[in-house]
Amino acid sequence: MQIEEKCMIKEYLKTRKEIVDRFIKEYFSLRSPSTTLHDAMTYSLFAGGKRLRPILTLTSNEACGGEPEKILHYAGAIELIHTYSLIHDDLPSMDDDDLRRGKPSNHKVFGEAMAILAGDALLTEAFTMLSCCQSNGISSASSLRAIYEISHAAGPHGMVAGQAEDILAEESEPNFDTLTFIHKHKTGALITTSVRVGAILADADNSDIESLTEYGNNIGIAFQIMDDILDIEGNTAELGKKTGSDEKKKKLTYPALFGVEQSRKKAYTHIENAIEAISHFSEKAEPLRAIARYIVERNH
Ligand code: IPE
Ligand code: IPE
Ligand code: MG
Ligand code: MG
Ligand code: MG
Repeated sequence: MQIEEKCMIKEYLKTRKEIVDRFIKEYFSLRSPSTTLHDAMTYSLFAGGKRLRPILTLTSNEACGGEPEKILHYAGAIELIHTYSLIHDDLPSMDDDDLRRGKPSNHKVFGEAMAILAGDALLTEAFTMLSCCQSNGISSASSLRAIYEISHAAGPHGMVAGQAEDILAEESEPNFDTLTFIHKHKTGALITTSVRVGAILADADNSDIESLTEYGNNIGIAFQIMDDILDIEGNTAELGKKTGSDEKKKKLTYPALFGVEQSRKKAYTHIENAIEAISHFSEKAEPLRAIARYIVERNH
């Protein structure tokens, strides 16, 4: 990736992140009971994530001719679900990690019970967010389809299935089929859906949605391969989470099966496939291409 493109995509991501953050902040400012549960939810939500998934929803929407400012509650809801998954992922009974988004993990501050409940609450609040603001000119049919996609990707056929296999794989013989299942589900499902939802809400045609699905599947896998690599070679200060966590928990990861350099090559191949899948899109899809390239060059 050229330095110029890197600067441009960093600036693009920063601006989009601000838009997502502003929306979520405003939503929560209208619903702010001063309770410990609310504090626990907002602690993790505003700890400073990259907002990659909601950004992908906005970017894909724009690439398909939509108006991203009209779909912020779909993008925001996906971020709430992602944040819940991180809180639960860090629990002592799961990955047992103490640092997240540069701060002590939720359970370290609020205790395990409140961290579980904050996760539950963010997950359910996502569906309140999805269903409470429907006056933006999006048809009921598209809206319902988007909500279906998000629920399906987050649940027992998507992210939660991947998280379950990820835990079970700590105790089993490493194998590539299981690894593929884990990455496709625990990380790929929500990322692919973020992209698809943007397209669905722009009323994109089925063949474009299919191309974007191929793009999403590939960047999703590449994103998790890079996450696995960064767990080995990353820097805690930049990542905002501790490195070495996967080896400690005997996780089934790409580097564990193939080593770091082979894994990096595979991630780059997935990114080429992703860009190829949307090669027929106009220059409006340039940010999607730049995000894909950025995923394998990131250091956090
Ligand atoms: C971390 O996701 C969990 C994975 C699926 C690898 P991110 O790297 O997007 O985390 P935040 O949202 O920026 O904190
Ligand atoms: C987590 O994967 C994926 C989720 C659905 C949260 P990891 O366990 O590798 O994510 P990090 O490294 O803790 O962020
Ligand atoms: Mg995990
Ligand atoms: Mg983890
Ligand atoms: Mg990880």
